[in-house]
Amino acid sequence: MNTKSSPSFDKRDLRNALGSFGTGVTVVTSGTKQTRLVGVTANSFSSVSLDPPIVLWSLGSTSPSLDIFDASGRFVINILALHQVDLSKRFSSNLSDKFEGVDFSEGLGGLPVLNDCVATIECKTIQRTVVGDHVLFLGQVEKYLYERKPTLLFCQGNYLQGVEYETS
Ligand SMILES: Cc1cc2nc3c(=O)[nH]c(=O)nc-3n(C[C@H](O)[C@H](O)[C@H](O)COP(=O)(O)O)c2cc1C
Repeated sequence: MNTKSSPSFDKRDLRNALGSFGTGVTVVTSGTKQTRLVGVTANSFSSVSLDPPIVLWSLGSTSPSLDIFDASGRFVINILALHQVDLSKRFSSNLSDKFEGVDFSEGLGGLPVLNDCVATIECKTIQRTVVGDHVLFLGQVEKYLYERKPTLLFCQGNYLQGVEYETS
């Protein structure tokens, strides 16, 4: 096992270590057709509290999408299904129009809710805090939908394909 204790970590290497933790993949969306639609692939999503229902995610503070997340005061967590790798790649790119050809509906506040996801969670931002090089958003869940179908998973820098679930 590789042991690292120096405070001046190599960023790439630290990212590799943290990426050992497998996650789902979300696209966090905000904005409206009238302002600007934004969407960012994010695996920093986590549930925080059930009562009241609160979730979190974080966005790099130099993101060109940050102003829209701030101005909107709302965001949608779109949890991707196994077959939506292309959406994950699209929303982690720097395409000028990430929404071109993407199938979505308008949710609360006119925000884009991506169709065909495993789950969509519509939130109102209740706290925004700068933490290091990211902005941490906490949101209260106002509406959610989900379906029981395979979720896209990401671990060690790769998407998992052909996941088998152990049924209990
Ligand atoms: C699987 C995966 C997870 C990611 N998670 C995050 C995240 O949680 N927060 C973040 O700021 N960027 C994350 N990124 C990188 C962003 O998706 C990428 O930088 C994107 O271009 C940001 O959109 P923007 O250019 O509109 O800021 C992730 C990328 C991938 C492929």
